[in-house]
Amino acid sequence: MSKHQRNILISGASRGIGRSIAEQAFKDGHNVSIGLRDLKSVEESKGSTFRIKDDSLMFSKYEAKDKTSAELWVEKTKDKYGKIDTLIHCAGILKKTPFNYEDDEEEDIEELWKVNLMGPWILTRACWKYLIKNKDSRIIVLISMSGKRSKGKLASYTTTKFALMGLSQTIRNEGWDYGLRVTTINPGWVNTQMASDVRSIRKEEMTQPKDIGLIVSRILELPNNCIPFEININCNLEKI
Ligand SMILES: NC(=O)c1ccc[n+]([C@@H]2O[C@H](COP(=O)([O-])OP(=O)(O)OC[C@H]3O[C@@H](n4cnc5c(N)ncnc54)[C@H](OP(=O)(O)O)[C@@H]3O)[C@@H](O)[C@H]2O)c1
Repeated sequence: MSKHQRNILISGASRGIGRSIAEQAFKDGHNVSIGLRDLKSVEESKGSTFRIKDDSLMFSKYEAKDKTSAELWVEKTKDKYGKIDTLIHCAGILKKTPFNYEDDEEEDIEELWKVNLMGPWILTRACWKYLIKNKDSRIIVLISMSGKRSKGKLASYTTTKFALMGLSQTIRNEGWDYGLRVTTINPGWVNTQMASDVRSIRKEEMTQPKDIGLIVSRILELPNNCIPFEININCNLEKI
């Protein structure tokens, strides 16, 4: 049981990094509210450590491109747990649209902006009035090393992640005096479905999602005067 029980909203926890963070948070004794596109995806997944009927766990329909679903999820969580002091953004998509994209790839670029940038923006805005009521709220944003440097030709993904970094830094500025602290987590390759077709590095050599779950678990225990602004994580040496 964590020393400080938090009421956590987390997106992108049907699988991958979000799922590992949510399972660890649940294990640590926090109340965990998961926003999902497909409500059955967690219940049906194998090897889950969730106790689906547990009072410390709730699920709500959430589509990052749908503002109403974000607002309803936030209100349902507030009604159930009384307050919201932690928001963790893990929903995200990767499309390999390059700078010199084909005409029919414009929709892909728009979708990336909607999910990777506007999704977290709208959800944070919907939570804001609850987050700033506490003196020690937390926002954790899964960005990427692609939010810090451009490697290869992933123009569309990389630009959304740079923008998400800018948004996260601004939210940090606006929330600081309310005791709200924002941490961005910036991994290289992590062994999830998103990295399933990566061939340059073996799956077991990639960062494992459960280890990111442990990092987040630790951040949630730290006091306001010791919060990392950014955590860059890599599984291989990037030559500068
Ligand atoms: N894996 C990596 O190598 C890596 C590296 C750096 C950063 N990241 C970032 O870390 C985050 C999590 O990635 P991951 O590796 O865990 O990816 P993942 O396994 O593909 O999981 C992505 C999650 O986002 C959800 N999602 C996607 N589109 C959504 C939408 N429109 N509305 C609501 N939820 C949506 C998915 O839900 P559904 O089940 O409904 O599809 C899923 O839960 C992402 O932001 C990603 O960019 C990943």
